[in-house]
Amino acid sequence: MTSLTTRRFLQLAALSAAGLLLAACGKKEEPTPAPAAAPVASAAAPAPAPAKVYNVGTDAAYAPFESQNEKGEIVGFDIDVVKAAAAKAGIEVKFTNTPWEGIFNALGQGDRDLLVSAITITDERKQTMDFSTPYFDAVQLIAVKDGSKIAKFADLKKLKVGVQTGTTGDEAVSKLLGKTNTNIKRFESTPLALKELEAGGVDAVVADNGVVIHYVANNPGGKFKTVSDAEFVPEQYGIAVKKGNTELLEKLNKGLADLKADGSYDKIYAQYFGAAPAKAAEAPAPAASK
Ligand code: ARG
Repeated sequence: MTSLTTRRFLQLAALSAAGLLLAACGKKEEPTPAPAAAPVASAAAPAPAPAKVYNVGTDAAYAPFESQNEKGEIVGFDIDVVKAAAAKAGIEVKFTNTPWEGIFNALGQGDRDLLVSAITITDERKQTMDFSTPYFDAVQLIAVKDGSKIAKFADLKKLKVGVQTGTTGDEAVSKLLGKTNTNIKRFESTPLALKELEAGGVDAVVADNGVVIHYVANNPGGKFKTVSDAEFVPEQYGIAVKKGNTELLEKLNKGLADLKADGSYDKIYAQYFGAAPAKAAEAPAPAASK
């Protein structure tokens, strides 16, 4: 209640001080800031600044990692991990559906503060953004129709293959078939690529194992099966922040470490994938033989 009158008084004091200074201006050198100005600032300080809400970009067409439920809410494993890590780190987050194609630009331009989107940590991406410690192990997996004779990745060489544009699946297939090969059918989302497989427009889809397994399990009418191949290099997901944003990165890493330490990460994992993850951190390397 007194703060208003105090502020008003200080404003007036500042004004009259400014007036005095103006009057003095002609004669003297640059004065030090009027003492009255400082109390104004400190009088305003106690009002708690609204907490920053970090805007998280995610391409929510990637169940079970991120998708939209019937209510339009963004849900999934990634979402739960980031929410829990943020709670541990004492920061507030909100999620914004962000198409994969523009997701890295949105981060670079500051439209998003961080990204969680089953993003594989790659050397190339590390040049333009920073990643948290890995929070999930993944690998590419091939989806084909039930009766398909495809038995390994190399079998796709002369076939039509669907991928989500700009993903690590796209990269792997581009390597095998040649980047400009018209047999590579690029889609803006992985579900669209899988729908095309169901429709017979492509012979196979290459995408992250978790998403392919989830899709196949939830679309029994599609009559899919999956084909794995040890040729695929192991991948790890990380949360991305703008390059140089170490302050946020440290908070996220601390949050992730806390989650792993107190067992809440394993709980979230089990909720989506049925069992606790293999303790990859303690093992020398994932068991992908190559
Ligand atoms: N892990 C793959 C990559 O980083 C695919 C990620 C796609 N994520 C998504 N939400 N659409 O390229």
